Amino acid sequence: MNTGIYEEIKRLKKETSTVILAHTYQNPEIIDIADITGDSFALAKKALAAGAKRVIMCGVRFMAESVKILSPDTEVILPVPEATCPMAEMISPERVREYKKNNPDAIVVAYINTTAALKAECDVCVTSSSALKIVSQLDAPEILFIPDKNLGSFVQEKFPDKNIVVWDGYCPVHAQITEDDIIKAKKEHPDALLAVHPECNKDVVKHSHMAGSTAEIIDFALSSAKPVIIGTEKGVADYLIPNNPDKTFYYLCPEKLVCRDMKLTTPETVLKALKGESGEEIILDRALSEKAKHSIDEMLRLG
Ligand code: 13P
Ligand code: SF4
Repeated sequence: MNTGIYEEIKRLKKETSTVILAHTYQNPEIIDIADITGDSFALAKKALAAGAKRVIMCGVRFMAESVKILSPDTEVILPVPEATCPMAEMISPERVREYKKNNPDAIVVAYINTTAALKAECDVCVTSSSALKIVSQLDAPEILFIPDKNLGSFVQEKFPDKNIVVWDGYCPVHAQITEDDIIKAKKEHPDALLAVHPECNKDVVKHSHMAGSTAEIIDFALSSAKPVIIGTEKGVADYLIPNNPDKTFYYLCPEKLVCRDMKLTTPETVLKALKGESGEEIILDRALSEKAKHSIDEMLRLG
């Protein structure tokens, strides 16, 4: 990275008491300027713990909204307003309301990768790492899982006795991986273990040695005595490989596993956001935010 920008960002962060959060899928030059890195919900929790007055969220919109829901008095800025997660909007809040009207005894479970407006309509949120534990405790004639069909069917398969209806959304990045991609990767690296994100489809997940969130994949890779194929967005392997020269990690389809929305954030956009020249401050309606927080609080209570 241009050291001039790096120095200016460092100086402005200090002068404006701004904390920079970056999801692990961000490019290495963003990870380098971040104060806190991690997976989506961990960032929101860490921002709350840091008591930051102002944060810049290098990620996508639902992640910035999660920070705002947990820390309503913090100024939360998304440096690139167009950075959104397509999956987070694959069901509308109106559709959830209609479903609840027709199924008043059902429980609606929302993956954390959803908009604040969707979280506000649901009963409980889950992360990819807490989904199984939380759903195991739910008792209802029907459970609607939104929006990810892959994480949803991963959960559904574990609880055949529960009536789980899975919405048809998907992550356009992880869902591109095919079983053939996995067979090829395993042939190329027969000594390696395979870790994947549960947003991959089930024909992919069934070949894995572990399926979990960004943080769980990182923990698995770091504690593995064997090489690991990193079956999630390329940024995770970009982070693991140079930081662990004593270990062997392989990319899985790096040409496919790139989230374009995540990569929209650059040091230049962060600098402009720090100067107040661009970016969008996340403003949430108080009542909506409180309803969304209720779903997150339920997740924390059950998880
Ligand atoms: P994590 O919560 O595992 O970081 O997932 C974020 C994401 O966007 C996965 O595609
Ligand atoms: Fe959304 Fe998939 Fe990108 Fe994650 S990787 S932000 S789920 S599109």
